[in-house]
Amino acid sequence: MTKRSTGIIIAIDGPSGAGKSTVARLLAERLGYVQIDTGAMYRAAALLIAQAGIDPSDTETLQAFCQGIDIALEYADGRQTVIANGNDVTSQIRTPEMSLLTSRTSTLKPVRDALLKSQRQMGVDGGVVLEGRDIGTVVFPDAELKFYLSASAEERGRRRCEELSAKGEQVTLAETIADVVKRDQQDSERDIAPLRKAEDAIAIDSSAKTVEEVLDIMEQLYKEKINSTGMAI
Ligand code: DC
Repeated sequence: MTKRSTGIIIAIDGPSGAGKSTVARLLAERLGYVQIDTGAMYRAAALLIAQAGIDPSDTETLQAFCQGIDIALEYADGRQTVIANGNDVTSQIRTPEMSLLTSRTSTLKPVRDALLKSQRQMGVDGGVVLEGRDIGTVVFPDAELKFYLSASAEERGRRRCEELSAKGEQVTLAETIADVVKRDQQDSERDIAPLRKAEDAIAIDSSAKTVEEVLDIMEQLYKEKINSTGMAI
């Protein structure tokens, strides 16, 4: 294991709506780690591309544009703020339209190359919980602890529908489940860094588990990992 002074790298991958963001935030809080929500970074990149009116099939222009984008994640009082090229885009990136657009733009190599580089810079010193689709397979294949968090499409659709309704979005359960299934398909069938479980990731199905139950499992495995390596916590 790589010796890092600030802690280990924890990867949480899985499909949309499995509860990764909530679990990553609370696990980071429990451990005193930094949370890195890579999905938020892909969403912010998609928004910038759309706002700049860039044709995603124009690879050269897209590549030049992506090299200049700057996405920062800030956390205060348990709330995440996403800053894209200096602007707060936190709420703008959370609409159903942005979810589908992001699922498309995140298939593009210039976008992935740019974000891969910044995610590695953000996580390399350890003491981080990164969540996404390709953390354990591509971004940090040697992460010390990897989880693959999933849940049934129905349960994920139900959770997403509740979240969106609470924000005042007009959505139906059937529509939300269909969106979840469509994004799963886009995320797992793309050529670059598709959603898949790393061989050494621990699979957790959150369908019938509370957030606390998932966190307890993760924290226990974290302690075992740290104990087995003799690292101080
Ligand atoms: O986790 P999320 O729903 O906020 O992610 C938004 C989209 O970003 C999702 O459709 C897939 C993409 N994504 C990705 O391709 N790779 C990641 N590491 C994280 C997210």
